[in-house]
Amino acid sequence: MTVQCGNRVALVTGGSRGIGAAVARRLAADGIDVAFTYRTAGDSAQSVLADIEAYGRTGLPVRADSADPAAVVGAVEQTVAELGRLDILVNNAGVFAGGPIESVSFDDLDRAVAVNVRGVYLATQAAVRHLGDGGRIVNIGSSFASRVPAPGVSAYAMTKSAVNGLTRALARELGPRGITVNLILPGSTDTDMNPADSAGAYAQRSHIALGRYAAPADVAATVSHLVGDGGRHITGASIAIDGGATA
Ligand SMILES: NC(=O)c1ccc[n+]([C@@H]2O[C@H](COP(=O)([O-])OP(=O)(O)OC[C@H]3O[C@@H](n4cnc5c(N)ncnc54)[C@H](OP(=O)(O)O)[C@@H]3O)[C@@H](O)[C@H]2O)c1
Repeated sequence: MTVQCGNRVALVTGGSRGIGAAVARRLAADGIDVAFTYRTAGDSAQSVLADIEAYGRTGLPVRADSADPAAVVGAVEQTVAELGRLDILVNNAGVFAGGPIESVSFDDLDRAVAVNVRGVYLATQAAVRHLGDGGRIVNIGSSFASRVPAPGVSAYAMTKSAVNGLTRALARELGPRGITVNLILPGSTDTDMNPADSAGAYAQRSHIALGRYAAPADVAATVSHLVGDGGRHITGASIAIDGGATA
């Protein structure tokens, strides 16, 4: 079976900036119509929309906070209603909650769990009602948080580890329906969340075998592979895009 790129529809959560924006642009370049959510950055969302349309595809920005259950489910339903179908879900929206465990506030913990775990689960639950044979789910975890969590990332690592469990369990559950579920583990990637010129960047770079941060497009290229024909036999996998930082 060859995965058809024409007329497929993707939903990317957190697609207005950073990795999610690169994924939205790359999927459009691959010939896929792309809906994407964002929380506040309307200007950035319009810029991503313009790039999707420049590739000749249809784009759909949806303002939807992943911490709001109704908004998450609504984004999936709006995608299907306006773009006609859903073939690909990329669970990318995420927030960082850092600091020694004694310092993590209830609100920060609650928000990290709501966005990074509950929002991913609810988006996936809503999406699988629409995905058919050849459907694709790609979750975005974290290489450092999952494989070498440093002091001060306990809450973030906990949330990202939950997505690892979800990925593996759903790969088996949805395999019989021809739907793949995979986890990408970005390492240090140059975005607003983790700028390559930040105070902490030197220490991160020292762990990276290739000696440099990833660009968001590096992560998007692997999403493209997983949702394309090359990904047809890959499911339940965790793929690090970290320049060898956890080799
Ligand atoms: N950058 C890294 O080094 C790195 C490493 C490992 C894993 N990751 C993971 O990669 C993913 C993307 O990170 P990034 O670095 O691209 O982050 P980013 O630069 O902070 O961009 C985050 C994107 O997600 C959206 N977003 C944030 N909170 C949201 C919410 N509650 N509801 C809906 N959308 C929301 C933002 O929308 P607005 O523009 O509206 O704010 C923005 O489009 C995250 O899951 C992160 O944990 C990043």
